[in-house]
Amino acid sequence: MDKLNISHAWQSLANHYDKVANLMVKDQFTSSANRFSDFSLKAAGLFLDYSKNRITHETMQLLNGLAEASGLIDYREAMFKGAKINVTEKREVLHTALRNIEDDSTPEGKLVKKELEHMAEFVHKVHGGKWHGYSGKAITDVVHIGIGGSDLGPAMVVAALKPYATNVKVHFVSNLDATHISETIKYLNPETTLFVIASKTFTTQETLANAVAAKEWLLSKVPNGKNTILHHFIGVTAKPERAIEFGIGQDNIFPFWDWVGGRFSLWSAIGISIALAVGMDNFYELLGGAHEMDRHFRTAPFKENMPVILALLGIWNINFLGASTLAVIPYDQYLYLLPAYLQQLEMESNGKRVAIDGDNVTYKTAPVVWGAVGTNSQHSFHQLLMQGTQMVPVDFIIPLHSHNPIGDHHLLLYANCLAQSQALMCGCGEEEIIRELKGQKMSQEEADKLVRHKIVPGNVPSNIILVNKIEPKTLGALVALYEHKVFVQGVVWQINSFDQWGVELGKHMASKLVPMLQGEKDLSGLDSSTRGLIDIFTSDVY
Ligand code: F6P
Repeated sequence: MDKLNISHAWQSLANHYDKVANLMVKDQFTSSANRFSDFSLKAAGLFLDYSKNRITHETMQLLNGLAEASGLIDYREAMFKGAKINVTEKREVLHTALRNIEDDSTPEGKLVKKELEHMAEFVHKVHGGKWHGYSGKAITDVVHIGIGGSDLGPAMVVAALKPYATNVKVHFVSNLDATHISETIKYLNPETTLFVIASKTFTTQETLANAVAAKEWLLSKVPNGKNTILHHFIGVTAKPERAIEFGIGQDNIFPFWDWVGGRFSLWSAIGISIALAVGMDNFYELLGGAHEMDRHFRTAPFKENMPVILALLGIWNINFLGASTLAVIPYDQYLYLLPAYLQQLEMESNGKRVAIDGDNVTYKTAPVVWGAVGTNSQHSFHQLLMQGTQMVPVDFIIPLHSHNPIGDHHLLLYANCLAQSQALMCGCGEEEIIRELKGQKMSQEEADKLVRHKIVPGNVPSNIILVNKIEPKTLGALVALYEHKVFVQGVVWQINSFDQWGVELGKHMASKLVPMLQGEKDLSGLDSSTRGLIDIFTSDVY
């Protein structure tokens, strides 16, 4: 395969960029009545309006050419068919099999079917009070302990689907900071609390430390301890033997497999806390929505393929228009954890600097993903989006209907979302501002002084993703949309989106520092900063 940035497809885009560098999107709307319909599409219950990007029809054609030249069609099939496309870890990437629940013709399908049955049986028992704590009382609270992919997905979905909550309340503990678990269990009743220990490897420091703390808390509250672990702990892991060693009963372990990457695991038994929070039927709906997006992604031609389009727009913004970040701004309070979830999905997947062939890439890969819910974000960082020195593309996400239709709230929310997207595109120019200031009877001199501060240059690209309502099915489709977007970008950038070697370095170094902080190992060989900070910790003087 050609190196990406010397390929014909890339060079064509670079030449095209020279032609359209000064294109103003708002002018494109004036010259084409069809721009909105030309650059929008519907799939799996989602509507994407990408007409406010700095693109023309030719841009999209050339971007499609880039996708075609990348071998995306073959890679996509390879992923769905279970080829070992995670080459550095020699693993299949088959999270799509987790939501293809009608198909049990493959070995993976059979495993998934069995697992879902096990999950359903357990969830029904908990909800029906048939699974109970050591003293016979029904479970009222679940504490899901995990981190990274074993936390962010379930936590985000449980928050997003709060309107569907059952009588079992689900809490999440991830941070190694003991405050997280302490504050979570403080008011819980050990008799009615179930812990879900979620860890693919069952070796992750944070999760094990919190799991041990949970076990100690429970045992400290319960007369004749040990057997209570069987009533109050379940494990979700690809390493059942380690969960058994921890004390979890064999029947209380929900396995998943090497072919499910951590950050793609909410669809597996890692999602059992979702099912406990909102019921098994809603979990099936979530899987169903994602599967609908999978089918769309697998079959739609590139120019009508939502994940492909979203991915290519990202590449255009990053590699040709120079963006380094992507803001994700959901106008839905229930989606407040979506930016954090997408940070891991995009940045752990595509924050890579070496291509599959082992050479350094010579172009930018994943953007820094960040964001917060609108309208709060408007009163915090939109100033930079409007007038800062960096161009920050935005994905706005908004439902057409609110779960809480009171007063004019939703209409106002919708108006604000559209207004931000419109303002980013149109900006506000000198003439308009002068007119406005003069209308306010400002002197020419004063107006001349102020005008430059008020100019908003505009031409900032944004997408709007519209859903009818944040429901299990649409949420499933939305998450799968971003998963496939990330996959497409990884293919085009010629990187492996499914490993995370960089994360390992920090873990390894932390484990080396532990004996030094315990005073059991000498500090020679350390840099003076790390040594000095260890000295302060061990002597408790600064
Ligand atoms: O953050 C790094 C990471 O390896 C993620 O990829 C993974 O989701 C997370 O740690 C948790 O790992 P585990 O599920 O094995 O505890």
